[in-house]
Amino acid sequence: IPVVLGLLLGAYLLGSIPTALWVGQRFFGLDIREHGSGNAGATNTFRVLGKKPGSFVMAIDVLKGWAATSLATVMLRQGAIQPDQLLYFQLACGVLAIVGHIYPVFAGFRGGKGVATVLGMMLAIAPATVGVCILVFLAVLAVSQYVSLSSMTAGVTFALLQLLPAFRPQNPLLLWFGFVLAALLIYTHRANIGRLRAGTESRVPLPWKRK
Ligand code: G3P
Repeated sequence: IPVVLGLLLGAYLLGSIPTALWVGQRFFGLDIREHGSGNAGATNTFRVLGKKPGSFVMAIDVLKGWAATSLATVMLRQGAIQPDQLLYFQLACGVLAIVGHIYPVFAGFRGGKGVATVLGMMLAIAPATVGVCILVFLAVLAVSQYVSLSSMTAGVTFALLQLLPAFRPQNPLLLWFGFVLAALLIYTHRANIGRLRAGTESRVPLPWKRK
């Protein structure tokens, strides 16, 4: 039990690492949450600080979700949980990392929207389904130039894909989970939805879309 509790706490703390905030403060002397969309995430880091910092934040935030989810495998190896409990603990660790990312203890509980961390979590659990979602994300981005819309569409696609026989998870819990995560992403993007409706959401400049 102490191993399980310690690793669950570890998953939350891992998710709580505010990569975007720390990169902004350490290397650019600014609080990313006071610039651009105000979000402490990879997209806003790309927007405000550029490609290199953006890619770095993206990679670390995906890794956080993947590593936290993989802590369940550590529990299994330690004999703290049974093989048939693995998925439950993967989901618990992944969710704690996502909660940490959105409400980080190291950044006054003002973090990001959870997209990269959800991506990392699901890469550890359902990589093939995630692969299709990444293609959907890129397609929506290429057409709309909105990262927020692409993120939400990819999240909803993940949930819907799992209804298809080819992507149906063995455990129905994962199916439900897909919808919970999609709902969570829509919730964290509520300000973006307002801007999309008002026509004020910022667009990613794409080479073939430049006027
Ligand atoms: O990474 C989150 C993305 O979907 C939206 O970010 O900064 O445009 O609100 P942002």
